[in-house]
Amino acid sequence: SILEMEVEQINKGKYEHYMQKEIHEQPESLTTTMRGRLIRGGSCKSKSVLLGGIKDHLKTIRRSRRIVFIGCGTSYNAALAARPILEELSGIPVSVEIASDLLDRQGPIYREDTAIFVSQSGETADTLQALEYALENGALCVGITNTVGSAIARHTHCGVHINAGCEIGVASTKAYTSQIVVMAMLALAIGDDTLSSQARREAIIDGLFDLPSKVKDVLKLDQEMKNLAQLLIAEQSLLVFGRGYNYATALEGALKVKEVALMHSEGILAGEMKHGPLALVDETLPIVVVATRDACFSKQQSVIQQLHARKGRLIVMCTKGDAASVCVGGSCRVIEVPQVEDCLQPVINIVPLQLLAYHLTVLRGYNVDQPRNLAKSVTTQ
Ligand code: AGP
Repeated sequence: SILEMEVEQINKGKYEHYMQKEIHEQPESLTTTMRGRLIRGGSCKSKSVLLGGIKDHLKTIRRSRRIVFIGCGTSYNAALAARPILEELSGIPVSVEIASDLLDRQGPIYREDTAIFVSQSGETADTLQALEYALENGALCVGITNTVGSAIARHTHCGVHINAGCEIGVASTKAYTSQIVVMAMLALAIGDDTLSSQARREAIIDGLFDLPSKVKDVLKLDQEMKNLAQLLIAEQSLLVFGRGYNYATALEGALKVKEVALMHSEGILAGEMKHGPLALVDETLPIVVVATRDACFSKQQSVIQQLHARKGRLIVMCTKGDAASVCVGGSCRVIEVPQVEDCLQPVINIVPLQLLAYHLTVLRGYNVDQPRNLAKSVTTQ
């Protein structure tokens, strides 16, 4: 029953902390997120996606002038991870807004906009206020939440539940990966009327079916991430470089490290390296570079070379089998991850960084599930 499922989720079971449990249950939470929503297609019917909560609004969304994602923290990062695939499959300009910043600027929102509110709790004050603002301005408002009956779920015109199951750790982990998957499915649903992208869409749907087992594979890096955490235990700071689909991975990895391990960490858009961050690089500062295979791979290879030339202490995340081609001079550490469809790669790539943040926290002796000064849902402004 649903009640039994919920009680099961509130139990830590064999795990020591909720964050650890929630990281490790991602193969299951992702399966639940996709359940009943992916259609494999028969002999004459192509593969497709069914999102019941928005199907009656798809036409309006397709006609909108712009799609604006609005969220805070991890939910903002998830929207950033999904933006490229949404732009590609919808052909509609997509912007991503931090709720408080949109409100500070009173940025323009129009009747012709689709505003999508991303929130695990569905109760975040900034996001909720931005929703009221968008409603006043006449936009179609869509909710992507993990909490049935939450304020954001109730006040939006339509929406999609991520069904990741109750998330208890203050650091969002399984909600992040489920949010990305829901937004990828949303992109597929919006792009569903375009014949030219059908092969691409089918490849993504196949990728979604395979995703839980690939997440299971990447979770095997647990011990390796614990060893890495041991190595980084006394560091002051950790930089994370990413770009393209994985700019969000850099921001989200850094957010995890700072919020639970209480270590300064910064996600950096690799394309901005020469415009400032490169000055920080020396032989003492540890730097994670996300360089898995996608259209940005060769650019990331040259970033690695330049960081290497400045003697950066590199930890490169790459696709399985790529260690030799990313590790110039053989001096860096590598984290090899399984390859999936490019737009789904952020779901895989965040997992080792979640594990790293978790182990760093435990080794440094801090509270993993309730970091100081933070609350699970920020209901005040
Ligand atoms: C995530 O690890 C943080 N605790 C925080 O950034 C969080 O994602 C943010 O407060 C938004 O919460 P929401 O998704 O419930 O709206």
